[in-house]
Amino acid sequence: MNKIGKTLLRMDKRYGAQNYKAMDVIIRAGRGIYMYDVNGKKYYDYLSSYSSVNQGHCHPRLVEAIHEQSKKLTLCSRAFYSEELCEYYKYMNSMFGYDRCLPMNTGVEGVETAIKLARLWGYKVKGIPSERAEIIVAKNNFWGRSIAACSSSSDPLCYQNFGPYVPGFTCVKYDDLTDLELKLRRGNVAGFLIEPIQGEAGVKVPKENYLKRARELCNRYNVLLICDEVQTGLGRTGKMLASQDARADMVVLGKALSGGMMPISCVLGNNNVMDLIEAGSHGSTYGGNPLAAKVGRVAVDIILKENLIRNSKDKGNLFRNSLKDYVERGIVKDIRGKGLLNAIEFNKVEEAEKVVNKFRENGLLTKITKGSTVRMCPPLIISNKEMNNSIDIIKESLRIIE
Ligand SMILES: Cc1ncc(COP(=O)(O)O)c(C=O)c1O
Repeated sequence: MNKIGKTLLRMDKRYGAQNYKAMDVIIRAGRGIYMYDVNGKKYYDYLSSYSSVNQGHCHPRLVEAIHEQSKKLTLCSRAFYSEELCEYYKYMNSMFGYDRCLPMNTGVEGVETAIKLARLWGYKVKGIPSERAEIIVAKNNFWGRSIAACSSSSDPLCYQNFGPYVPGFTCVKYDDLTDLELKLRRGNVAGFLIEPIQGEAGVKVPKENYLKRARELCNRYNVLLICDEVQTGLGRTGKMLASQDARADMVVLGKALSGGMMPISCVLGNNNVMDLIEAGSHGSTYGGNPLAAKVGRVAVDIILKENLIRNSKDKGNLFRNSLKDYVERGIVKDIRGKGLLNAIEFNKVEEAEKVVNKFRENGLLTKITKGSTVRMCPPLIISNKEMNNSIDIIKESLRIIE
């Protein structure tokens, strides 16, 4: 690292709260699928800001949308209607086929909102006695850092020393319908909150039909299915929504809803749930601001116009097929994923660490997600040539553990 880099690193370590353990690389710029550090070194971005820059860094259409809208109107209190928000609602409805959209900012706020809506539905429609509504969550879930998210987490690093915890969460094993049914039977359950693929837990892909069967169980026990698609949504898994076949009662979107421009999230749902919310019972100063409404609309449009869903599916297949013999030869434990939400699981944590460092040396950035699992998630705009080049880097880097 050069002198500027070392100075910047000292500034971070001296003045910033150290709630992240970052790699020793300081990024200055991003363009498309690449990031550039302060030394001018170019890297493939294989993390995509945790699936936020599906459209690539600083997509020209998003930059233009920000630029144009910021000259017109960026924020107007929700005390008034805004032109852009009206347009955004209509667009989201036609795109996702849900009756209504409730805009928020970060992913965690989106999920909190869905939980509030589920509790509301539980009391007003299902007739759950006051204060007794339960939300079922899965072990190893991750939906952010609020007190409620900590309260429903099974990871001590997330929840320890942050109590007292919010009651009303019941945990089930992920990808286990028997356990789910056992807990659904208890009554008083308003919602089942689930990630179609658990990203932070190490790209855990459930069995085919898990979500569909969960949907059937939710119907049988009169429980809302809530899909947290903050990470899996918007083309990442080779579908617009990873949960689209299960047709959740509520879907939470975030991250790529702005293509990396700003925090934009939302809950999509139908009138049976969304009509229950009353004016004044929920909101956010910045939720649904005109700038976000404009950016969100363009971000989704890019996914469609640039065929990113198809590309995600194809390049994901290419990625897994090109590397599967590393599993067969026992060099790595597993390579899994859907679309371009993929992971390599190594046999040992030290091997994962070694390879991640080698990736960086060779011009590709990513990070260990959990244990010995490394997420491999480039922006969805990656071309064939770039995919093949980056796979060459991956193969070259894997040589240190062969
Ligand atoms: C599945 C899922 N839900 C929710 C969140 C929280 O999003 P945010 O960090 O924007 O609050 C994340 C973040 O990684 C996530 O992966």
